[in-house]
Amino acid sequence: MNMLPSILQTWVVMFLVISPTLFAASVSRVDSYSSARKRHLREKVRKMFYHAYENYLTHAFPHDELKPLTKSFTDSLSELGNLKLEHLPQDYSGSALSLIESLSSLVILGNNTEFERGVLWLSDNLTFDVDARVNLFECNIRVLGGLVSAHILATDSANRLVQGSYNNQLLTLAEDLGRRFLPAFNTPTGLPYAWINLKYGVIESETTETSTSGCGSLILEMGALSRLTGDPIYESVALRALRKLWSMRSSLNLVGTTLDVTTGQWIGYSSGIGAGVDSFYEYLFKAHILFGKEDFWRMFQSAYLAVQKYFRHGPWYHEADMRTGKATYWQLTSLQAFWPGLQVLVGDIAAANSSHREFFYVWQKFGVLPERYLLDHQIIHPTEKYYPLRPEFAESTFYLYQATKDPWYIEVGESIVNSLNSYTKVEGGFASIRDVNTMQLEDHQHSFFLAETCKYLYLLFDDSFLVDRNIIFTTEGHPLPVLSSWHEKLPEAYIPANWTFPKSESQRRRRESAMTLQVCPATTLSLNHGDQQIESACHIPDVRGDHRCLSDEDCGVDSTNCRKRSCSTASYCGLWLVT
Ligand SMILES: *[C@@H]1O[C@H](CO)[C@@H](O)[C@H](O)[C@H]1NC(C)=O
Ligand SMILES: *[C@@H]1O[C@H](CO)[C@@H](O)[C@H](O)[C@H]1NC(C)=O
Ligand SMILES: *[C@@H]1O[C@H](CO)[C@@H](O)[C@H](O)[C@H]1NC(C)=O
Ligand SMILES: *[C@@H]1O[C@H](CO)[C@@H](O)[C@H](O)[C@H]1NC(C)=O
Repeated sequence: MNMLPSILQTWVVMFLVISPTLFAASVSRVDSYSSARKRHLREKVRKMFYHAYENYLTHAFPHDELKPLTKSFTDSLSELGNLKLEHLPQDYSGSALSLIESLSSLVILGNNTEFERGVLWLSDNLTFDVDARVNLFECNIRVLGGLVSAHILATDSANRLVQGSYNNQLLTLAEDLGRRFLPAFNTPTGLPYAWINLKYGVIESETTETSTSGCGSLILEMGALSRLTGDPIYESVALRALRKLWSMRSSLNLVGTTLDVTTGQWIGYSSGIGAGVDSFYEYLFKAHILFGKEDFWRMFQSAYLAVQKYFRHGPWYHEADMRTGKATYWQLTSLQAFWPGLQVLVGDIAAANSSHREFFYVWQKFGVLPERYLLDHQIIHPTEKYYPLRPEFAESTFYLYQATKDPWYIEVGESIVNSLNSYTKVEGGFASIRDVNTMQLEDHQHSFFLAETCKYLYLLFDDSFLVDRNIIFTTEGHPLPVLSSWHEKLPEAYIPANWTFPKSESQRRRRESAMTLQVCPATTLSLNHGDQQIESACHIPDVRGDHRCLSDEDCGVDSTNCRKRSCSTASYCGLWLVT
């Protein structure tokens, strides 16, 4: 199987080569200074991972998650997303969730022995034939994604299993799970139910309400499962749901947050980039990278432009009504912190950097990120004042450092590591914070702390796992390889080598997005002497270089705020206030 050059890596290379040569000398000095510091921080993260992992093994395994304060366990797979704790199973004793979630991190930390031990235990002992009602989205990203990714790592010749006794058992388990998901898709619209009983399918009188991310964040895992097994059913149900969801967008290309799977009608019209929607955007773009389908790019591009246009306010993102585009809630949520990371993949570094700084400002103000922060009042939401060890801010910091190599992001990472160690580390693991005002703890170590928080921090300080690998991370931080055999034939402009490696010297000096050529396919970029910088993936230049115009048609889209420019009475393109 042929690996394309790493997309992330080549983009990184591109961003590196654009740094003006003037800075080259000082950059390398900074680099060697920070490499000792990076090693030191990497070792701190390694200790964090093992502290969390070994306490899980000792006190909770094979149950789902660790309760670090009481050194006990919770079989939480059936509780994830189940705020009212309805229909809890009678005799379910866990699926070793935190072990499944740790497998890819173990490989990234270079612990193949422990990886193999985990793989063999699961092969022997894991079963999905349990009477437990689980959240399809959560089970997909954590369990299916964890198994599929670990299967790929187990068969990757670079991490040969020590005893060589792997016989595709994880893929068999993944396929068994994938098959148990299928009844959820049996609705008039093809949009899946949010809940499925692993043994009995959709239960009677199941709720028909689900979320946008619940329907729109299945394609990576289900698609990978289809490619690996050769059975197209998983990819096709996920794709059908995604297309249906996309067809429900408003004329502004916005989606809502909640919907009904039988009628295909929206329930909640307000949406943003946080809870209930976030990974829908992420998966449109990552599906484009993983499967090379132009279709995903077109959907993502429209969706992304609408987000930048209707949700963004300077570095902040508020919520808006999908029908009118009018702002609804001015809130920063901890989950939104993934967005700058996605923007790095898109190539929108400047926008990513400015939002990331605001998140860091809030992080420093409280020591961690509160779940919800009211931007209009500058206070924490009265009930959502917790910090459950979420990874999103660390994830974006990792992506921004990859793209810029600016040592400032290492400092941000150090601050995250210090906060986690001083506020959340207890003898029995790492505990969530119940209230960021008082730093009162809660008895729960979420599996994503092992799958994502520790992994992204580790990769921030040591990215050797990424070298010579072309991978994307799922929304749960599980790596999937970008394989040319999974790619549809792409049009020439989309062939990575052509849009990630700038050809000429003048091109290299421009800070242009890897995706610029596709965002503005009708525009030929003038490549002589890059003094005019293109900073945003939504940038569309004015038709005439001197910005003169006869009508609005002659004007492009502003590179910094993604607003359409219009033609003034004096015949110049600009962002004129329209009353
Ligand atoms: C691998 O993980 C096991 C279990 O946590 C640990 O005992 C062992 O020291 C680790 N090995 C390495 C090389 O880190
Ligand atoms: C499966 O679980 C049993 C009981 O915990 C254990 O004895 C056995 O070693 C496990 N299988 C593997 C391959 O680890
Ligand atoms: C990020 O923002 C800071 C502050 O505005 C600026 O100094 C820095 O150069 C920016 N970095 C990038 C890569 O845009
Ligand atoms: C890139 O584009 C050129 C023509 O512009 C084409 O000849 C070449 O094959 C493309 N590169 C790859 C890797 O396909």
